[in-house]
Amino acid sequence: MKLNSKQLDAARSALLGEHSEQVIRYMAGQSVVIDSTLPTQQAQEIAQNCGWTLPKSEARTSLGFLVSDSCREYLFWQERHKALPFENGLPHLSDTLFEGKYVAEIGSGMGANLMSLSHRTGRVCGVEPVETYIQLGEIFCTREGISTLETRVGGAESLPFQDDELDLVLCVSAHQYFDIMPAFHEIARVLKRGGELVIIGGILSDYARHSVDYALNSEGPKAVAITLVNSLSYTAVGRRIIGNRNGFSTSRPVYPTSNAMIRWMHDAGLTQKTPFEKIGEETCFYAVLSG
Ligand SMILES: C[S@@+](CC[C@H](N)C(=O)[O-])C[C@H]1O[C@@H](n2cnc3c(N)ncnc32)[C@H](O)[C@@H]1O
Repeated sequence: MKLNSKQLDAARSALLGEHSEQVIRYMAGQSVVIDSTLPTQQAQEIAQNCGWTLPKSEARTSLGFLVSDSCREYLFWQERHKALPFENGLPHLSDTLFEGKYVAEIGSGMGANLMSLSHRTGRVCGVEPVETYIQLGEIFCTREGISTLETRVGGAESLPFQDDELDLVLCVSAHQYFDIMPAFHEIARVLKRGGELVIIGGILSDYARHSVDYALNSEGPKAVAITLVNSLSYTAVGRRIIGNRNGFSTSRPVYPTSNAMIRWMHDAGLTQKTPFEKIGEETCFYAVLSG
């Protein structure tokens, strides 16, 4: 999905204009509870005029879902003082990990992590299949006075880089949407020898532990059942039994076991640099391309 020039102009004036703070909080509030004392009437009208919400019901359109996700991630990024979400979470995720390196974030979304990394690496490039996220990210960069970030449209299974090009690949809350087995081989292809991979995201034990809560309070029982079935089928036969819904790349996550992650990385030539560790509700895998 890509915004046409009219949609892009509308998004720019909504997210950069006089009422932009209201609009961002209003749209973020469509996906999570946002504490806001700002009036919403103008924001509601702007969101409708942009085609992000439907008149009367305020339900989000498919474009509205992408905008509200992006606004939510932007607010979270501001709330954590523009730091990476795992900043100082583990000793090896310190500033020096990125220094002077050519880093790619795969599944970069609207680019919050790219914005955090923009002054801390030799070079950073985001890879994201949903062009709308990239376009919205450019608008948020303008808000922040960050000169445009380097991004490429693409997916983890066919990365838009040459062989042996990158020093470090980062995936944050994204691997569960990949076809992860071929993705590991692609990551190994584009990394230099000794290059590193940092994956932070969900694994099966955590998802299963919270599944009742997700079934009752957020995702609903059907979505949780599909995720569990797909997670097991992917681990057993290497594919999701139930495919993407409405073309949404994030609609059918797979949460592998940690053992499966390590085995698949190993098959691609990636070995653990440190044992995997918990970081909040997520798990961090830190691997190196051997050879
Ligand atoms: C939950 S978001 C995380 C975004 C970002 N990494 C962050 O931490 O804010 C997951 C992202 O992965 C992207 N994605 C889904 N399938 C993908 C694939 N096969 N290859 C690369 N990225 C993918 C989605 O479009 C989405 O932007």
